[in-house]
Amino acid sequence: MYRKTYAEIDGDILTNNIKEITKKYNDYQYYIGVVKNNAYNHGIYVVNNLIAGGINYLAVSSFEECLQIRKYNNEIPILCLEPIDIEYIYDCINNGITITVESLKYLEDLMKLEIKDKLNIHLKIDSGMNRLGFKKRQEVKSAYELINNAKYLYLEGIYSHFATSGISDPFWDIQLKNFEELTKDIDLKTIPIVHLGRSLTLVNHPKISFCNGIRLGIIMFGFNQSLPEEKFYQKMKKNYLTNKYNISPTTRQNDLKLKTAFVLKTKVMSIRKVLPNEFVGYGANILIKEEMDVATLPIGYADGVTKAFKYVWINNELCDILADSMDMLMVKVKKNTKIGDEVEIFGHNISIKDVTSRLNINAYHLFNQISSRVVRLHLSKGVKDEIKY
Ligand SMILES: Cc1ncc(COP(=O)(O)O)c(C=O)c1O
Repeated sequence: MYRKTYAEIDGDILTNNIKEITKKYNDYQYYIGVVKNNAYNHGIYVVNNLIAGGINYLAVSSFEECLQIRKYNNEIPILCLEPIDIEYIYDCINNGITITVESLKYLEDLMKLEIKDKLNIHLKIDSGMNRLGFKKRQEVKSAYELINNAKYLYLEGIYSHFATSGISDPFWDIQLKNFEELTKDIDLKTIPIVHLGRSLTLVNHPKISFCNGIRLGIIMFGFNQSLPEEKFYQKMKKNYLTNKYNISPTTRQNDLKLKTAFVLKTKVMSIRKVLPNEFVGYGANILIKEEMDVATLPIGYADGVTKAFKYVWINNELCDILADSMDMLMVKVKKNTKIGDEVEIFGHNISIKDVTSRLNINAYHLFNQISSRVVRLHLSKGVKDEIKY
């Protein structure tokens, strides 16, 4: 590592999170780890930690992401959630990638290929989000029949995606009903994997009886988005909404003990004394009133960190960020601060919740905004590895 700006990713925490989730919600056969964008930016290397905890299928957005996983694991089945261009289908077969079929047109194009090896397919149903998938009952039936009659196409799965949590809105129920309606002409029992839910819907609703798979994303990385019992009661006005929206009792018994595994760090790169009436940073608009020590850190908005983070943690203290730029932050520090001192941006002493609420964003956004030039240091079983992609 040349530039001392890095994210420490604790793989063992991720393994434990999955164990905790699969222990409590133990009636699924397929725990599909959604690891798009480099495993929510933790580094795709963590797939093996997730698998060690009980993930037995992976899902990503693109064929590029599928191939990244194959560098670290050749065995685990991988579903690509976006349709892959027909011209790459042979590469999918060669790399054991499961494809999403989301329209009849795509399926017809697929059937024009000369496929001579088994190709795994999951059908995507648009139950209301209007993003991807079949929206017509007749087309679902046609796709089901076409795939089942094609020699090398194998209908391994069917899925949909919920737009909302379904706690204080009716859309979850509407989407579930739409899915049932759209798939009425096909026998779901003949399809090995049926998966509708994601992290939030896992904890907020009872298991859907015909589903044997669940897609886990943000929850694997330590975010348990349903409310603890006390807050739940306040918000749910006793049982009114729980009954109305069929919310699982598991929401109220949501005692999952999950931890975040992402700590963003850097080191002090330079220190200078700034005198009264001098300024700091671009724009010359941060005017200094009293003499102070200012440390420059090698991290900036190109890495995903701005002045809006407000403060960083150095030598057991919060230090105010004075100015930012593309690659560097300037922070006010105590006199004893030295070049090379460790700086935490967030993750341990400054919690991820704290940062997201200050920035008014959610954890998905925060993780995804930390750029790939930030080195990932992977910790597992006491060994620290710098991951080179
Ligand atoms: C189709 C699909 N399934 C599952 C997920 C995982 O969602 P979550 O992180 O809320 O569990 C995503 C996330 O973007 C998704 O697009």
